[in-house]
Amino acid sequence: MTEPWWKSSVVYQIYPRSFADSNGDGVGDLQGIRGRLDHLAWLGVDAIWLSPFYRSPMADFGYDVSDYCDVDPLFGTLADFDELVADAHALGIRVIIDWVPNHTSDQHPWFIDARSSLSAEHRDWYVWRDQTTDGAPPNNWVQTWTEDQPTWTIDPTTDQWYLHLFLPQQPDLNWRNPQVVAAMHDVLRFWLDRGVDGFRMDVLHALGKDTDLVDDPPELLPIPHSALNHHPSTYELVQGLRSVLEEYDGDRMMVGEIFLLDTALVASYYDGGQGVHLAFNFPPLYTPWDAGLWRHRVEEVAREIDPQGWPSWVLSNHDQPRHRTRYGTEARARAAAVLMLGLRGTAFLYAGEEFGLEDGVIPANRVVDPGGRDGCRAPIPWTAASDHDWGTDDPWLPWPPDAASRNGEVARADETSIVHLYRRLLAERRASAALHIGSQELLDAPAGVLAWDRADGTDRRRLAVNFTSEPVSLGSLATGWLLAVSTDGLGEGSPFGGELGPDQAVVLRPA
Ligand code: GLC
Repeated sequence: MTEPWWKSSVVYQIYPRSFADSNGDGVGDLQGIRGRLDHLAWLGVDAIWLSPFYRSPMADFGYDVSDYCDVDPLFGTLADFDELVADAHALGIRVIIDWVPNHTSDQHPWFIDARSSLSAEHRDWYVWRDQTTDGAPPNNWVQTWTEDQPTWTIDPTTDQWYLHLFLPQQPDLNWRNPQVVAAMHDVLRFWLDRGVDGFRMDVLHALGKDTDLVDDPPELLPIPHSALNHHPSTYELVQGLRSVLEEYDGDRMMVGEIFLLDTALVASYYDGGQGVHLAFNFPPLYTPWDAGLWRHRVEEVAREIDPQGWPSWVLSNHDQPRHRTRYGTEARARAAAVLMLGLRGTAFLYAGEEFGLEDGVIPANRVVDPGGRDGCRAPIPWTAASDHDWGTDDPWLPWPPDAASRNGEVARADETSIVHLYRRLLAERRASAALHIGSQELLDAPAGVLAWDRADGTDRRRLAVNFTSEPVSLGSLATGWLLAVSTDGLGEGSPFGGELGPDQAVVLRPA
């Protein structure tokens, strides 16, 4: 039986505003992405995930959608999108797109109509509650980012509260209304018909809500409700989404953003094979650079997720400081690449991590994101020139640090750079069934080292990551192995000597 493509894949996340600019307006666009597909093919990724490019007033930079079935003019046109998909597919790269089902923009025609009167056609497409005598919001749920604010705003026209787990400009859809379900299913079909291979589904765990609006436990506040919402009605909604994907051939896939920092809960959204194909599991992304803590995470995923479905690994995205920045050194970023590409599961890379980019340092007067996430969204510098191939020296956010020396052009020209490590890891992973689909067994390793075996039939690999700043000897674990890939690039293809340098990681092949 052949496995679906997404299991063995490495998916590369593109935040369109920050990736590449074709028209010099300082904001990345679809033609910019198209112009960089050769880099992605060279790197060896299997798929790209595009963060939102839909029509949007950009209160949340595209995660506030005012038309789900069109491209914002800032990013291009539907024709540009079709060209991008065609070119990606011609290179063997799948395309998954972001779908934002929990909320629309307040400028979406559905919400403009909904708020116009109590009897508006789309009134019940959103979540409303009566004004109270004491003027208090309907419950204690806390908004995301502005954590002293309720998830409710009074709409003056009708004097009712509407629900928004995120900004007031992002009203939550009412997924109990079958018309909402049907309309959003049609949005999926619109893009499936255009040939997309799947969807990354934004805050998927939040769709089903408690109709009694029970308060969140006070001791958990001010954790935003978006990180706590967990309601049984969501499972059936996810099953419905999956059945839309199954109307199509070609193993279309959905990866849910399940922003619940509890791996057992995340696993539940796989729903015994009826739910998501993949779920983002974020606890590892919050895990410090420590072998013991990482071992715990790997064991947790093996225990909770593997019996339910296929794991996924992610260390950086458009919402979090880059792991290069969190872990503090390039040596660790290199070792982290071995970790995430060597563990059993689909790997999600975030554009720019292959160049070892750090977060941008954003002066206060350039901060634009309501959630303060600008640093990880600094534009990708493609060349050493002052405009870094953006057609402007001054894009929407400042460049990441050292862009004159740390950029795509310089990195690709230097065989010792981190991008070549990523490329070798991706090639090794693609060539080895043990690595891309095989079983996994954690080994007893010296303190500070995480070591594990991967196997598929007779194909075997052994991997080891030294999380410490001291050299470590792997002892008998090293006997009989060749060095396939090493974070320092030295000695690859030769017998492995058994010593790991500080923050060094290796992939080993049987001798
Ligand atoms: C998800 C997205 C984030 C967005 C939020 C609201 O967490 O990753 O960027 O702001 O949902 O849509």
